[in-house]
Amino acid sequence: MSVIRSAVTGVGSYLPEQIVTNDDLSKIVDTSDEWIIERTGIRQRHKARDDQPTSDLATEAARRALVDAGRDPSEVDLIVVATTTPDMTFPATASIVQRKLGAPTCIAFDVQAVCSGFVYALSVADGFVARGHAKCALVIGAEEMTRLMDWTDRTTCVLFGDGAGAFVVEPREGQGTTADQGVLGFALRSDGTKTDLLYVDGGPSSTGTVGHLRMAGNQVFRHAVVNIAEAITAACDKAGVSVPEVDWFVPHQANQRIIKGVGDRLGLDEEKVISTVSMHANTSAASIPLAMDAAIQDGRIKRGDLILLEAMGGGLTWGACAFRF
Ligand SMILES: CC(C)(COP(=O)(O)OP(=O)(O)OC[C@H]1O[C@@H](n2cnc3c(N)ncnc32)[C@H](O)[C@@H]1OP(=O)(O)O)[C@@H](O)C(=O)NCCC(=O)NCCS
Repeated sequence: MSVIRSAVTGVGSYLPEQIVTNDDLSKIVDTSDEWIIERTGIRQRHKARDDQPTSDLATEAARRALVDAGRDPSEVDLIVVATTTPDMTFPATASIVQRKLGAPTCIAFDVQAVCSGFVYALSVADGFVARGHAKCALVIGAEEMTRLMDWTDRTTCVLFGDGAGAFVVEPREGQGTTADQGVLGFALRSDGTKTDLLYVDGGPSSTGTVGHLRMAGNQVFRHAVVNIAEAITAACDKAGVSVPEVDWFVPHQANQRIIKGVGDRLGLDEEKVISTVSMHANTSAASIPLAMDAAIQDGRIKRGDLILLEAMGGGLTWGACAFRF
């Protein structure tokens, strides 16, 4: 039976120039390169310039993804930006990206699911594309997490960084089988009883300030491994594929120990798990497309491969998505 699938036809990413090493951070808080590497796998993170808002990072990643897809900004008809660090409270960062790209009048809005944002945004775009409401969609994860750091809190400020990544998503006709190119299945979750484990202590309708990121790291860690493993299994079930069939796991890049914990729980082959967290730390909604792009550039991920994306973040939210590239 012929079906319309949402295919990922282009991938791009962007990291701001300035690199902040673990040694740099050890000069402002009581930490060390050894501690950070051992507990998280992180070696460095990137930091945006003061005059470089999230939309700049998003726009550059989107341009690169459009070039990769062979598409022009004039063809874009949907922009979904996953971000928890918008340029402004409103308008949506997606509308600013639309202007900066020079895209025509189209659908543009943001999705806020923190570190799970990219998986959520991809599923939203899938709804538009597979139902015929969009023909050239941009799904962007873009974050400047360094803006939310309390630079006196060593338990959080070493973990995060800035960056952006983007997918171009277009309709492709498939046969309704798991061999089809495009999104095959996803699982999305939220547990609002756990908002106090990972949050920012500010906002327009509470404090009137931007606020700083706060986290009960130990507890988030425990939930992450269990929740992500469950979502991976559920997304594979929805897609009609088995976990061992997946060619590449592209996890949210929060922490090497979480990535390994999930892998161990599901018995994943380590060789199939893409990890770039050492290079850019936790870039929240940007981390999945950043990792995907890196693995395409170095020749690991190829067209036709079965990919599994997964993430967990504030909310708590979590989710996974299986697609054939
Ligand atoms: C944050 C995290 C790395 C901390 O590692 P941990 O092994 O759980 O460490 P703990 O929180 O138990 O702290 C152990 C000690 O290290 C200290 N410590 C915390 N951060 C430190 C740092 N950057 N440098 C040095 N010591 C640090 C703590 O103060 C504590 O010291 P104490 O025993 O004297 O009180 C870990 O909990 C984690 O990875 N959590 C998940 C975080 C995450 O990725 N969240 C995002 C999900 S989207």
